[in-house]
Amino acid sequence: MNQSNNYQRIKDNWKHDVKKTEQRFPERKQTFTTSSELEINRLYTPKESSETYTEELGFPGQFPYTRGIQPTMYRSRYWTMRQYAGFGSAEETNERFRYLLAQGQTGLSVAFDLPTQIGYDSDDPMAEGEVGKVGVAIDTLLDMERLFDQIPLDKVSTSMTINAPASILLAMYIAVGEKQGVSPEKLTGTIQNDILKEYIARGTYIYPPKPSMRLITDIFGYCHEQLPKFNTISISGYHIREAGSTAVQEVAFTIANGMAYVDAAIESGLEVDQFAPRLAFFFNAHNQFFEEAAKFRAARRIWAKIMKDHYKAENPKSWKLRFHTQTGGSTLTAQQPDNNIVRVTVQALSAVMGGTQSLHTNSRDEALALPTEDSARIALRTQQIIAQESGVADTIDPLGGSYYVEALTDEIEEEVNKYLERIKELGGAVQAVEEGFMQREIHQTAYEAQKRIESNEDIVVGLNDYKLEEEVNPDLLRVDEALETDQIEKTEQVRNSRNQTEVDECLKGLKQAAKTNENVMPHIVAAVRVYATVGEIANVLRDEFGEYTGV
Ligand code: 3HC
Repeated sequence: MNQSNNYQRIKDNWKHDVKKTEQRFPERKQTFTTSSELEINRLYTPKESSETYTEELGFPGQFPYTRGIQPTMYRSRYWTMRQYAGFGSAEETNERFRYLLAQGQTGLSVAFDLPTQIGYDSDDPMAEGEVGKVGVAIDTLLDMERLFDQIPLDKVSTSMTINAPASILLAMYIAVGEKQGVSPEKLTGTIQNDILKEYIARGTYIYPPKPSMRLITDIFGYCHEQLPKFNTISISGYHIREAGSTAVQEVAFTIANGMAYVDAAIESGLEVDQFAPRLAFFFNAHNQFFEEAAKFRAARRIWAKIMKDHYKAENPKSWKLRFHTQTGGSTLTAQQPDNNIVRVTVQALSAVMGGTQSLHTNSRDEALALPTEDSARIALRTQQIIAQESGVADTIDPLGGSYYVEALTDEIEEEVNKYLERIKELGGAVQAVEEGFMQREIHQTAYEAQKRIESNEDIVVGLNDYKLEEEVNPDLLRVDEALETDQIEKTEQVRNSRNQTEVDECLKGLKQAAKTNENVMPHIVAAVRVYATVGEIANVLRDEFGEYTGV
């Protein structure tokens, strides 16, 4: 078939996909026009048909997805506006959730406090001083019920930023759904469940790599059976970038981790198309607008080729890299906090121009404290203004075809593939992490970046130039110190009022299962239903797997 016929055939396929998509997601408007009444096409492509176009860019919703994973992208549905939120008690966070939903947010995202993230109850000595500080305190199912009070779980999708104890919080979410009369197969959302980046950059790990990978693939297997609409992992580059990596390292190390999870799932006996459609990703939207937009486009193409050509996945849903983006927390300055609104706007734009499926915009005061309600609202409004007023969502992949962006996309793909080759030589991501390879690369990059700021080679407005004589301190969110004692009392009450025999039985069953290669999820679901605590469950697994002391 000659080149132009092939191009036309592929273009017709795309048009067919558009028609199919419109049944579930019709386009937002009959026609899209600029302020001068000039009609805006759904997509702009080269004037002549070209093989490189179909191979390297393709049409939106078609392999290799460089221009986006959906045939009509934001013409039909905006990205999910999903603000990461959580602090204090379940009641306080529930209030913020309901406020943000009332302000037009379209997805939920739970921030848990550190004790919860590392599998300690609020009354564990290790939790002292941290209860409810950087996220919401969750000890038992009662807290989770309160967290989602008046929030129908069949109507909203929820992301949970939880990794080592992901299985426990997912089990609690299932149990809350049951209490609301929502069956597990109706639940939508995402569990972060990505332990490798915790070893590399974030630090909230508990168990050694091998048992941690087992817990992760147990979730894959359990969700394949019971929660078909739930995304089982959010393979994260965000924190790798926050630790100081470059955009290329962010994509490379994240995709390498993604491949390690695919390998582990296949090793556990799953077929690639049984779990790959529910893998998701999470990236940073950092400074350097064009590089960030190109980074997302390159990441989609790299992942699509790996899944199709290397893993031989046959379901196109297995080839699509679907991702959430958070604007770069580490770029926020404590100085002149209002400047951060501008930084976040530019970063959010790069995520939208890069085709994100879901987006969190940071609040102006987050270099100082968790966001106040006002700051969280401005952050959400930033997304709404980009969506509703800027016009950037009215045509698909508007940067496509730009000489600069296409060159950057190609170069990022090339550099990422070099890293992937090096990691493969090391034996894959798990070995690379245990050997400290990624950590060393990131530390070196972070050190060089910090030196450039300290020498004023790189300017950070308000920090090393354009400074104010006197900083005006904004109102900040304060977590009530009494929260810790209140939370401890609540958990004590739950322990005293539950059926302890049932709890002991469930924890015993979990211990047995952990010793074998039986999927532990059913035991964890049973345990949370009878109000076993996060700490009790995590400790059963600590006894069995031991704790990881880091590289
Ligand atoms: N055409 C056709 N269908 C479309 C469409 C379009 N234009 N747009 C959306 N859809 C469909 C999708 O296919 C999907 O349907 P499906 O599930 O049947 O396939 C549905 O509409 C919902 O769309 P998405 O799945 O694209 O959007 P979601 O928001 O539901 O999911 C995600 C996005 C990236 C796949 C998901 O994993 C997600 O929401 N991730 C969020 C992760 C997150 O919030 N993380 C926060 C971490 S905070 C943190 O770690 C930082 C801290 O440590 C500091």
